[in-house]
Amino acid sequence: MQQLTRIDQHLAELDHALRVLVAPARAARPTPAASATETELPDADRRAAAELMRVNHVGEVCAQALYRSQARWARDPALKAELLAAAQEETDHLAWCAERLAELNARPSALNPLWYVGAYAFGWIAGRIGDDANLSFVIETERQVEAHLTDHLSRLPATDQRSRAIVETMRADEARHADEAERRGGQKPSALIGGLMALAAGVMKRVAAKI
Ligand SMILES: [Fe+2]
Ligand SMILES: [Fe+2]
Repeated sequence: MQQLTRIDQHLAELDHALRVLVAPARAARPTPAASATETELPDADRRAAAELMRVNHVGEVCAQALYRSQARWARDPALKAELLAAAQEETDHLAWCAERLAELNARPSALNPLWYVGAYAFGWIAGRIGDDANLSFVIETERQVEAHLTDHLSRLPATDQRSRAIVETMRADEARHADEAERRGGQKPSALIGGLMALAAGVMKRVAAKI
């Protein structure tokens, strides 16, 4: 019976992964891009914006995998519920980025299945170590994403108001996710762990901009 429950859980994880990778994400909140008007972007600007938004879309694919695996292994039911609630907000980000990519005539990263599996493994490690590691992982990830989105706001074409509105809202959400984990008593991980996470994210960002 327990074996059956475990298989059920694996199937639920597989189902979620397939939905992230294959089905169009459905946002619960309207896209922040709705508040900005579309302007005709010169081709070079459109391509530059598409590269950045593809990276952000990959980041959101990874967020789904991370939160999902971290929630799967969280021991405290309240923490598990909080991780799943954050994952729901990340679904909005995923949908908004996908929609914006399509508007920019660009496709998502072809390597999304690989990013998902890699991020799921990171979340699995943090979750298996324990709730403290789980919380520090959330804090470090979200703070790094917050800084990364600030960098993107300095690089996105000033005229691409629709992408900018999405990135600004995402940045505010990510900062709140980190704040909530800190309020739960989470601590930042060591500089070594933070550095390794930044290294992995750096590889992902370089590759995902192009492929
Ligand atoms: Fe996000
Ligand atoms: Fe987040």
